[in-house]
Amino acid sequence: MVSAKQTDDWDPRGPGALADPTQAYDAMRGTCPVAHSEYLGWSVFRHSDVVAVVEDHASYSSRVSARHPAVPNGYDPPQHGRYRDLVDHYFHPDDVNTFEPLFSSIASELAAELPGDGSEIEFIDRFALTYALQTQRAWLGWPDYFAVALREWVTRQHSATLSGDRQALADVARDFDGVVSRVLAEWRARPSPADDITSRLLREQIDGVPLSDDEIVSILRNWTVGELATMSASVGILVDYLARHPQLQERLRHAPEDLPAAIDEILRIHAPLSSNRRVTTRAVELGGRYIDAGERITISWASANRDEAVFGDPDEYRPHENAPHNLLYGRGIHDCPGAPLARLELRVAIAELLAATRQIALSLDTPPVVAAYPASGFRTLPVHIFR
Ligand code: HEM
Repeated sequence: MVSAKQTDDWDPRGPGALADPTQAYDAMRGTCPVAHSEYLGWSVFRHSDVVAVVEDHASYSSRVSARHPAVPNGYDPPQHGRYRDLVDHYFHPDDVNTFEPLFSSIASELAAELPGDGSEIEFIDRFALTYALQTQRAWLGWPDYFAVALREWVTRQHSATLSGDRQALADVARDFDGVVSRVLAEWRARPSPADDITSRLLREQIDGVPLSDDEIVSILRNWTVGELATMSASVGILVDYLARHPQLQERLRHAPEDLPAAIDEILRIHAPLSSNRRVTTRAVELGGRYIDAGERITISWASANRDEAVFGDPDEYRPHENAPHNLLYGRGIHDCPGAPLARLELRVAIAELLAATRQIALSLDTPPVVAAYPASGFRTLPVHIFR
C-alpha cells in the first residue's frame, strides 16, 4: 500500500480544468487516476475504480453531509432501501410514459418559437433550460409561478456557486425550501384528494409513519433543482454534438427510433453530470492510494465514461457496443431512479427539435461558454436554426 500525503495532486478550479474539464479528466486518468485536492477530496477517474466505489457502499457511504440530509441519495442501507422503494414507485416506465404527449407539446411549442431564418440564438436559455423547467413543473403538476421562482433560483444558485459564497448558497437553498413549502401548503388546503405526483407524495408513509415535511422537501428538492441542471445541460450537450456532427443529425432526423441509443452515447462522451460524492467509513486502498476513514471521495462519472481501458477511443461514437458499460445513470444501489423520466424528456426534446428544423448549426461568430464545475455542459450555446 502506498501511503499518500494529502497534498494537492491537481486543481479542479484551475483555469485549465474550468476551461476544458473533459480534457483535464482525460489527462488525470492517465497520470493520477485517484487524485487528491482540497476542494474535492479524493477524485476517482477510472471506470473500474468508480464501479468499485459505488458497489461497495459499506466502505463508501453516501451520508456526505450531516447538516443537509438528502432523501434518498444521502442515505445508506438499511434506511436507503426503505426510501428508495418509495421513490421508485414514481418512475415506473408505464406511468412516466403517460407524460409523452404533454412533453411533446411543450417541446414542439418551444421549437416553433425559435426563429428559423438562421439568425443567432442562445440555445440554453431559449430552449434547454425552459424545456427542463416546464417538463418538471408539468410532471409534478405545479403552478406556473413555480417555474418562474425556479428559473430565478437557478440564476442565483449559479452566481453563488461561481463566487463560492457559502452564505449566498445557504440563502438560496432556504428560499427554495420556502417556495416548496408554499406549494405543499397549497396542496394540503385543497378540498378533495387528487392523484397527481405531489398529492401522492403527501400521503406516503414509511413503516406506518407519514413522511416529515423536511423529508418531502428534500425529495422534491432532488426532483426539481437537483435534476434541473442535469436535464438542461443534457439538452445543450446533445444539440452541440448534433450541430458538430451534421451527418448524424440528418440520420437521426429521419430515424427517430435510433434516438434513445444515440442520446445515451452522446451523453457518455460528454457528461451532463460531472460527479457525485461519498465518504469513506474505513481506511481503504483505491488505485494504489491509501485513503483514511472519514475522507471525502468524488466519483467522476465524466471521466469514468471516457476511460480508454473500457471504451477505446472515448470520442468514438459506438452506441450499441458502449451501452453495457455506460455509467450515465450510475451503478449500484443509488443508480438513477429517474432514468425513465430523463430518457423520455430527452428523446422527446430532440425528436421535436429535429422534426421542426432542417438544420441546426453552431454559431461561427460566438463561441459557446462552458459551464463552471460542478455544473456541466454549457452556460451559453449560440446556434443557428434553419427550417
Ligand atoms: C440526464 C439526466 C440524469 C442523469 C444523467 C442522472 C444521473 C444520476 C446518477 C449518476 C445517479 C447516481 C448518484 C450516486 O450514485 O450518488 C443518480 C441518482 C438519482 N437520480 Fe438521477 N439523473 C438524471 C435525471 C434524474 C431525474 C429527472 C430525476 C428525478 C426527477 C432523478 C432522480 C434521481 C434520484 C432520486 C437519485 C438518487 C437515487 C438514490 O440515492 O438511490 N435523476 N442520477
